[in-house]
Amino acid sequence: MIPTESTTITPLTTEELAFFKQFGYLIKPKVINAATCNELLDLMWQSAPAALDRFDPETYRPIPKTEWSSDSLRFIQGDKWQYRAFGTDQPLINAMTHPQLWQWGEQLLGKGNLRAPTPGGEPMGSKGPAWPGGPVDPQNTEGVRGIYATLPNPSLQNAQDGLHTDGHPFHFSWVCLLEDCPPESGAFKVWPGSHQRFYPLFPMPYDQTRIPFYDHLPSHKGILHPTAYLDEVKAVEIDTDPVDVWGGQGDVVLWHHRLGHMAGHHKGHQASIRQALLFDYNHIELDAMRCEPTPADFWQHWSPELRAANVTTFSDALMSAQRLGATGKSGP
Ligand SMILES: [Fe+2]
Repeated sequence: MIPTESTTITPLTTEELAFFKQFGYLIKPKVINAATCNELLDLMWQSAPAALDRFDPETYRPIPKTEWSSDSLRFIQGDKWQYRAFGTDQPLINAMTHPQLWQWGEQLLGKGNLRAPTPGGEPMGSKGPAWPGGPVDPQNTEGVRGIYATLPNPSLQNAQDGLHTDGHPFHFSWVCLLEDCPPESGAFKVWPGSHQRFYPLFPMPYDQTRIPFYDHLPSHKGILHPTAYLDEVKAVEIDTDPVDVWGGQGDVVLWHHRLGHMAGHHKGHQASIRQALLFDYNHIELDAMRCEPTPADFWQHWSPELRAANVTTFSDALMSAQRLGATGKSGP
């Protein structure tokens, strides 16, 4: 067992659970200890493209095309370096089942209701992209999604933010910073409260409609987004400020499966690499749950403890810790 930062496991408060319900995410600082983060970084660096030197920040820049890789298990392109092949190795599984994260996960979905990973199982990327030219499906893993690194890219200085929701079925997900990540440096970004707006727009509670791909009918493939959803994406981008979940080594954020989000642009203000461990938690009954019509009760499949958390006024301390400010002006 990897040592944790503290032997004390502390449950989420009712206020934190209610915050997650209302805003769709929750930031928790200093959860994974430095030794664990550094062990994972050591493993990650074994997959580094040759142009990057861990100990020379001058090399922290977009990767030359000669080193790009479309391999779904080790994807390298531009400012992205994403390693998935070790996603079911024991150190990654240990981090995914960190006792503190597992406890919080069980608070959300109920004790004994989290699908356990399989050490040595099939990692994400083993089956290639979900469709030709498409992304890899994160439901196809028996462990984590992988460790995703984002390099400084000054050409993104004026790039606009744009949200999406994930197209695969899952309950909620984690992003864990393995080293310090300054603002506007590639951290995860979330649009607070957007999960409540996107949730009713899909006929299935967890999936998004997928279009089969045919070689002789190549123009239509991937995910079908209804007009109402696309309109709502535009509306959220206009009326809701995203939260940049920058932070320190060991910080984590959990987020609801319908929450609007993006991998932040690393604008290159500092020579840092955003290194994050990503994984999903799923209810053991997801297979049955995903076949139901979208329940009118948003939290029908979640734990009694979460369902009962109905705080509507949040403390200034919590709002500030969640980067919303005391007024919650970025919220819905
Ligand atoms: Fe995503």
